[in-house]
Amino acid sequence: MEWRRKDSREAQLYSRCVIALTTVATMLLAAMAIYSLLSPRVSVSQSVPSNCRLLQKDMSCLDPCKIVLVESIPEGLQFNSSTTHPSIFQAWLNLMGEARSSLDIASFYWTLTNEDTGTHDPTAYQGETVLKKLAELSGKLSVRIAVNTPEESQPKYNLRLLNDSGADIRTVNMQKLTSGVLHTKFWVVDKKHIYIGSANMDWRSLTQVKELGAVVYNCSCLAADLGKIFEAYWFLGVSQSIPSPWPSNFSTLFNKDTPLQLPLNNTPSDVYLSSSPPSFCAAGRTSDLQSILSVMDDAQSFIYIAVMNYLPTMEFLHPKRYWADIDTQLRRVAYEKQVKVRLLISCWANTPPLMFPFLKSLASVKNNNPANTSPLQRLFVVPASHQQKEIPFARVNHNKYMVTDKIAYIGTSNWSGDYFVNTAGSALVINQTASQTLEPTVQSQLKAVFERDWNSEYSTPLTQHSHTRDFC
Ligand SMILES: *[C@@H]1O[C@H](CO)[C@@H](O)[C@H](O)[C@H]1NC(C)=O
Ligand SMILES: *[C@@H]1O[C@H](CO)[C@@H](O)[C@H](O)[C@H]1NC(C)=O
Ligand SMILES: *[C@@H]1O[C@H](CO)[C@@H](O)[C@H](O)[C@H]1NC(C)=O
Ligand SMILES: *[C@@H]1O[C@H](CO)[C@@H](O)[C@H](O)[C@H]1NC(C)=O
Ligand SMILES: *[C@@H]1O[C@H](CO)[C@@H](O)[C@H](O)[C@H]1NC(C)=O
Repeated sequence: MEWRRKDSREAQLYSRCVIALTTVATMLLAAMAIYSLLSPRVSVSQSVPSNCRLLQKDMSCLDPCKIVLVESIPEGLQFNSSTTHPSIFQAWLNLMGEARSSLDIASFYWTLTNEDTGTHDPTAYQGETVLKKLAELSGKLSVRIAVNTPEESQPKYNLRLLNDSGADIRTVNMQKLTSGVLHTKFWVVDKKHIYIGSANMDWRSLTQVKELGAVVYNCSCLAADLGKIFEAYWFLGVSQSIPSPWPSNFSTLFNKDTPLQLPLNNTPSDVYLSSSPPSFCAAGRTSDLQSILSVMDDAQSFIYIAVMNYLPTMEFLHPKRYWADIDTQLRRVAYEKQVKVRLLISCWANTPPLMFPFLKSLASVKNNNPANTSPLQRLFVVPASHQQKEIPFARVNHNKYMVTDKIAYIGTSNWSGDYFVNTAGSALVINQTASQTLEPTVQSQLKAVFERDWNSEYSTPLTQHSHTRDFC
């Protein structure tokens, strides 16, 4: 990991020049340079004393980070578009191929084989391959898995196999800790590469469910920060309660106000990781909700959102509770700033019918802009053959991202209150607005994904008169 303050970098250069003179004095200088290189280095595991804010301004990450958007496109879906990205399956194979010392996985549940789902579908082979390779790696290097405590009825074969192969597994009892679930899905490899996105450790997430994520290679600064979120889950796997406050080594310097500055695909970028629920956020960490609200607030011309579920309620809480933080922000920016709002929502057999009246209500927000900038919505339906219909909980758009004229936000949460109040999730927020670059930005790539899906034959406008029973 390369943490340098500008002055220490200069000191290092300076010392290199002087060393060429090879005198006793230069050796002294070199010693001083090394000292100055070491002393101002701010370890990421340090807490955030208030005087660090200024220091942090001079700090940037020198890793040659490479980011790749990755997708699972369900079997049979075809787009008339040149917008394509490597598969999540391929990304996971690459990451396992790169792994030399450690692999940490935060996960909701594990069903990577046909056996787990009581199916005989040939497209399970990708998930089965991933499980096999993970089991091989578990014998060779440190593989740690944090998983939501499985219910009695959930299959345990994957975890048992990995445990027997040498992986370290901790179950996080979210039900007891927050009455939620651990819904996060990310990987940290060799404390250097990361994956984050919507795909579960489920064979269907590779071939039968539409998913989106990002892999960042060679990026230890970012991996160290995601590693802290992993360590929190790891800690909660053995702790009976949530620390408050969290020990200072869990805190971060990087958040919506002081993002991490690093090159992504040679483009200077501001990046941070947000996390939910708020009780899991150590000092310095922006909560998922705050990151979403601030990204919306920062938008000037458009906000495109692709999520499976969108509900201004607590979906799983009884008695019922209204929860409109995100909905209110969207209405506000659509009304006050005339920002163009588009929502691409998923429609499948398990869609809560309650979602549609709320969406129609959001769509009725009008503003003074003569160009119709009312929030528009479309429903994305993944069609299924007879055989595909037999696969339980598949054939759905499970993406969870947002793209504005400035920001790419890639998350792991459904958009209803529960996911921001008591469920564990996380998101990668990328800001490349300030940069001039020839390479396509993540924001422009994510926008292209949204437009491809929005304009595809799989999406249907939701109007005030739509009867959703007709097409879900
Ligand atoms: C692709 O374009 C063809 C011809 O315009 C059209 O018939 C078809 O429905 C399109 N397919 C998709 C998936 O959009
Ligand atoms: C993993 O295996 C050990 C024995 O090697 C056992 O004690 C432990 O309960 C297992 N853990 C899980 C999560 O299956
Ligand atoms: C990561 O860095 C290594 C060493 O510099 C390089 O060989 C490799 O190609 C890089 N990986 C990616 C995906 O850019
Ligand atoms: C902080 O320190 C504790 C105790 O040594 C350790 O269990 C935990 O994993 C550390 N947290 C991080 C983020 O490294
Ligand atoms: C993105 O970066 C620009 C330029 O540095 C800044 O003005 C803006 O506030 C940032 N947006 C967010 C949501 O962080």
